[in-house]
Amino acid sequence: MPVPKILVIPGSVRTGSSNARLAALAAKEFVLAEADVTRISLEDYPLPLFDADILAESGPPPQAVQLKRMLVAHHGVFITSPEYTASVTPLIKNTIDWISRVRDRGETGNMAFKGRAFAIASASTGGHGGIRALMALRQILELGCGALVIPEQVAVPHAEQAFDERDNLRDEALAAALKALARRLVELAAIMHTG
Ligand SMILES: Cc1cc2nc3c(=O)[nH]c(=O)nc-3n(C[C@H](O)[C@H](O)[C@H](O)COP(=O)(O)O)c2cc1C
Repeated sequence: MPVPKILVIPGSVRTGSSNARLAALAAKEFVLAEADVTRISLEDYPLPLFDADILAESGPPPQAVQLKRMLVAHHGVFITSPEYTASVTPLIKNTIDWISRVRDRGETGNMAFKGRAFAIASASTGGHGGIRALMALRQILELGCGALVIPEQVAVPHAEQAFDERDNLRDEALAAALKALARRLVELAAIMHTG
């Protein structure tokens, strides 16, 4: 079977980010599940706050076009997001808003989100592990962008104590859930690849 390509996007660029750690750990699981993994940092794709006037005057910024094309080049996408005020980070929302406005020649809307599978996870300092961020992110991706988001998701509570010195999750059930999520996303991405 051809090797599916998985894109990993951490939703925080903070130094020492727990969501970047979670994304790095997930990337290892994707490799163990025999996927080809690309892990990026949104720090390398700085975007202005979405402004319809910018879009009308100069089109989407090149970083949004790059990100959109990167999504299209992968069969699975994994996004982590901290919970900010019971929702996703502005970084993630802004990035998705820009990508959703990119149209390459002859394309209909939201090409970047269709034809590939998504999975989501969150690490937050609160006791619910960012479950409300995941609900918001699922809504944005599924209802807003027409994406297929797998039902498996991982929410890591008390993020500042959740990882050991080797950046593994201390909680065995959460580690097993992340592994199961990774396997499921790779399985589905492989089907998307051949399909
Ligand atoms: C503006 C703001 C709002 C936040 N709101 C929540 C929240 O609603 N629930 C929660 O669990 N944590 C909340 N947090 C704490 C984040 O979960 C915490 O900062 C987390 O470590 C950020 O993820 P990172 O380590 O990947 O940057 C909030 C943090 C900020 C800065």
